[in-house]
Amino acid sequence: MTPTSGDSALAPVRLARIGGDGIGPEVVDAAVRIVDAVCGDRIEWVEAEMGWGIFERTGRALPEATVTILAGCAGALFGAVSSPSHAVDGYRSPIVDLRRRLDLYANVRPLRAGAIDAVVVRENTEGLYAGRERWQREGEVAIAERVISRRATERTVRFACELALSRAARRGPSPRLTVVHKANVLRLSDGLFRETALEVAAGFPEIEVEEQLVDSMAYRLILEPERYDVIVAPNLYGDILSDAGAALVGGLGVVGSANCGERFCLAEPVHGSAPDIAGRGVANPVAAVASAALLLDRVGLGNAAARVQEVLAEHGAAGPRTPDRGGGGKTEKAVADLLRRV
Ligand code: NAI
Ligand code: MG
Repeated sequence: MTPTSGDSALAPVRLARIGGDGIGPEVVDAAVRIVDAVCGDRIEWVEAEMGWGIFERTGRALPEATVTILAGCAGALFGAVSSPSHAVDGYRSPIVDLRRRLDLYANVRPLRAGAIDAVVVRENTEGLYAGRERWQREGEVAIAERVISRRATERTVRFACELALSRAARRGPSPRLTVVHKANVLRLSDGLFRETALEVAAGFPEIEVEEQLVDSMAYRLILEPERYDVIVAPNLYGDILSDAGAALVGGLGVVGSANCGERFCLAEPVHGSAPDIAGRGVANPVAAVASAALLLDRVGLGNAAARVQEVLAEHGAAGPRTPDRGGGGKTEKAVADLLRRV
């Protein structure tokens, strides 16, 4: 286990680790062990808490202490939180809160398996998740407002274009950006998303730009996922497309994501807290490790990130499988295999 050399950071990089609820702590712990094996002592981990468990103990799902810890870090690796489906007084999902408070405007979800090598970049701060809901007639008609702004669209699409250029170096073929919208129906809101996206993308002449209506996008993503490179979409479309895409590349147990802002990155597996398997030692750690690789890349440890990706690729091809992937292996067996390949 030789720590990867060549990354520029000299002082240790301080990162927060937030397990959260359910399988969150199990998979974050696994990912931290892999990262430490790759990076040696270049990462200084700081433990922080949020989620349903701490809400039950203290009445706060996102403690101020956690926000303070995050302010002193370059990024964080987060597991998952459990959120009840019914309203609970004083409880809001801390991760939705954090994305907004830390202005983590681009959500990146790579989809890789075999010939598939795509990434969904989702606008992360507005759209239908702006939280503007109200009754028009109590109990009868509910209205949700969908917010699309030029500013949020611009920076998300610019992020997607820069990502497309950096991926081109690795992938070979010319970069392609697919702009997803439904501007034929939502003429103002998706119209603004479309117009802004095409304007921003025009500033990147090396990128082949195409647009796709979200419904046919869902169809074509399933039918011919290999043709896509970077897909950029408003919040809810991106959320749905990336979960559909996860099913094409091995399921929720293997797909990681990163919430990115200018100064901070919060990486997390796409999956939730999986209460059905929590505490049984069978969670697939791969999604959390893949998230950690995205985090390393964002905090300037690109070589270490690439090494983690290689280890994941070898593990995926020949390593033991956890039950979600049809195997009988436990989390610990997968972790041992990953560590052996570092
Ligand atoms: P989920 O992703 O937790 O689980 C869906 C299914 O996938 C379950 O059968 C689970 O066992 C399986 N699964 C998920 N991750 C796995 C892994 N690493 N290895 C093996 N199997 C895995 O989604 P669900 O059940 O809809 O939600 C459970 C809880 O998680 C809810 O309280 C929900 O609010 C929360 N959640 C939190 C998220 C977050 O913190 N970002 C995201 C999604 C859900
Ligand atoms: Mg989702």
